[in-house]
Amino acid sequence: MNYQVIIPAAGSGKRMGAGYNKLLMNLEGRPIILHTLDVFEKDPHCGQIILVIQPDDEPFFKEIQSRYLKIHLVHGGSERQYSVYNGLKAAVADGIILVHDGARPFIRPETILSLVDSARKHGAAIAAVPVKDTIKKVKDLEVIETVDRSSLWQVQTPQAFRFSVLKSAHERAKLEGFLGTDEASLVEKSGQPVKIVESDYDNIKLTTPEDLYFAEAILKKRQQ
Ligand code: CTP
Ligand code: MG
Repeated sequence: MNYQVIIPAAGSGKRMGAGYNKLLMNLEGRPIILHTLDVFEKDPHCGQIILVIQPDDEPFFKEIQSRYLKIHLVHGGSERQYSVYNGLKAAVADGIILVHDGARPFIRPETILSLVDSARKHGAAIAAVPVKDTIKKVKDLEVIETVDRSSLWQVQTPQAFRFSVLKSAHERAKLEGFLGTDEASLVEKSGQPVKIVESDYDNIKLTTPEDLYFAEAILKKRQQ
């Protein structure tokens, strides 16, 4: 059941508006990234954490690395996809590999295990939840159509793959100059089926300042 995980953490957190990498901001007294790292450090099935960082944050992350056993540090790129690719080059070229955003601290170990299991069977599996809102296609503030919600899923990370599937999808995207917003979109382009593992609505990505209120509420609920 062993796997390795790439955690992209080399963003600048523009939408959070803190003026520095949002992953260094505190959530209940500890940097957001530590909440995320703890899940994988504590998971006995996780063999290696490839943490992708920007050079400016290196002093902070070097100190963190000295307190964790599984962290391997790698420098990121200007886009998330390039950061993940740098992580991939540092990974062990075998078995199951996960990609998980540093900005999603509430991932549950049960979801990770289901993803690893599904990726082993099918080659690629991603965490997602059914869309709750009605979604409309709009142009110039006018509705074009209402999309059938029953087939829509909101995609999260982790996304899990057989190593060879992720590596060849990234290399192909690089050759074609394709930039996707997640790993699965690169894999889909290669024709490989991607399975869904139903996750939960707590697994939010901390993106804008109001997400911090939700994050505090989730932490409180889990401490009860
Ligand atoms: N990320 C990365 N390298 C980049 C951009 C993003 O490793 N060049 C990471 C972020 O650190 C984050 C994850 O990818 O953990 C998801 O990205 P996002 O939530 O968009 O974070 P930021 O890019 O930092 O935020 P923003 O887009 O608001 O600037
Ligand atoms: Mg971003």
